Amino acid sequence: MLRALAITIGALVILALAVVAIGVGVRSLMTPVVDGIHHRKGQDFALIERGRYLTAVADCASCHTIPGEGRPFAGGRRIETPFGFVAAANITPDAETGIGTWTDRQFDAAVRQGERRDGKPLYPAMPFPYYSRMSREDVLAIRAYLDTVAPVRNPVTSDLLPFPLSIRAGMLAWDALYFRPGEFRPDDTKSPEWNRGAYLVEGPGHCGACHTPKTWLGGDENAQKLRGSVIQGWFAPNITNDSTRGLGRWSPDDIVEYLRDGHNRLSAATGPMAEEIALSSSHMTDADLYAIAAYLKDQRGGSEATPPARSEDAAMAAGGAIYRDVCSACHTPDGRGVPYLFPALAASPSVRSRDPTTLIRIVLRGARSVATVREPTGPGMPAFGWQLDDSEVAAVLTYIRNSWGVAAAPVTAEEVHTARTRLAARSE
Ligand code: HEC
Ligand code: HEC
Ligand code: HEC
Repeated sequence: MLRALAITIGALVILALAVVAIGVGVRSLMTPVVDGIHHRKGQDFALIERGRYLTAVADCASCHTIPGEGRPFAGGRRIETPFGFVAAANITPDAETGIGTWTDRQFDAAVRQGERRDGKPLYPAMPFPYYSRMSREDVLAIRAYLDTVAPVRNPVTSDLLPFPLSIRAGMLAWDALYFRPGEFRPDDTKSPEWNRGAYLVEGPGHCGACHTPKTWLGGDENAQKLRGSVIQGWFAPNITNDSTRGLGRWSPDDIVEYLRDGHNRLSAATGPMAEEIALSSSHMTDADLYAIAAYLKDQRGGSEATPPARSEDAAMAAGGAIYRDVCSACHTPDGRGVPYLFPALAASPSVRSRDPTTLIRIVLRGARSVATVREPTGPGMPAFGWQLDDSEVAAVLTYIRNSWGVAAAPVTAEEVHTARTRLAARSE
């Protein structure tokens, strides 16, 4: 009796295995090639499309693709952290050097728990603390999309950090301090639009990775959420609804236009934000962009007031003269600029931000704004680093930070000097 049962079960198992094997065989024979894309797993196009959208929202390409190399998701881009560089992994479906043979559980653990395939912790240069807000379904949709990209053989060594950070186990302490795993939970007292915006900003969009101030260990200063932070030689400004240093004077339409087209009537995006827009937010639906705007407009800023530099100050007088000579032709004497061409310095939260890193950089090096599908040629600003010395740059910035009814701490010649030296040492 027992033996018969065992034989029956054995037969069933063999039969099941055979069916699976045949199924797999037939599947692989039927693997369709659509638009040159090789679909390896199943044919769930709705799932793949959802994954493609989420991959853009989460901007996986920005770190996992070397710009201009034409090998999407093949990894190798060096990501700058305050402690050194970490190279992003190959996440193409290559079996040997990519994620081709990973199980869904392993992929989900990497993206939402920061756990490598060998169980060791990933560095938070991979923004898993944000991706942890996604659902398992979201992550598996991303996986389904990544399975459709061209597999690329490209072994990547991510460990570029110096000792003692090279010991990954040390990251467990970081995780304990700063990593709060868990899916996004909607707030029932808010509208569905607000909740969608919260999910996008706090989850896949990982806006705080750049815009939230960091502790000395590089963790998010949560009480200061979205109030501005230095990142890779730029300052990502305050994007709360604060009226002096945040988006208080931007309407939801202004925010949507900036995130979709790279500029609006007040401002234009450069640097890391230009890249974020080109690869990520310009591909989002208008409904999602309005949801982001609704959420940002509901964030309280609470920034400190700074007394304006007195207009008789020597720096203000010198800065005013330089502004009239070299800047006002484009930005206009009243600082209002020309909508969609030259930013309105008088209305720019960036100009008044507590940290002048971006401003100094733009004046020294110039700026090229983002080209998006809707606005293919972004306007540019010439570099003045060769023409203006440290104290002149400091004076003109002090002037624009304290004119037109706005106020911010003056910029010093020492700050400009330090920035000039640091910029000279940077490749990008
Ligand atoms: C801000 C940069 C950045 C973004 C954005 C980013 N990653 Fe990463 N990712 C990294 C870095 C850096 C590593 C390597 C970290 C390490 O070795 O500790 C990594 C590692 C990984 C790994 C582990 C691979 C391995 O071999 O261990 C996976 C899987 C992964 N990323 C998937 C994704 C997906 C999917 C997205 C989008 C949802 C994404 N990443 C977005 C920077 C990024
Ligand atoms: C890789 C870093 C990075 C990420 C990620 C990022 N930003 Fe930015 N963001 C910046 C920087 C740097 C600037 C300043 C750009 C400039 O001055 O041209 C900026 C500027 C902005 C501005 C304009 C503010 C102003 O005062 O001009 C808005 C709005 C904004 N970001 C929203 C977002 C949102 C929403 C997200 C998430 C979907 C996001 N950012 C993700 C780095 C980032
Ligand atoms: C030839 C026209 C031109 C001149 C002259 C010019 N700018 Fe600009 N400026 C631009 C353009 C275009 C942008 C937007 C480019 C971008 O962000 O990519 C810009 C951007 C800026 C920004 C960033 C504004 C924001 O909201 O992010 C600052 C600050 C700035 N300029 C200051 C100055 C100062 C100070 C001078 C004089 C020393 C000056 N500009 C001269 C065209 C000009």
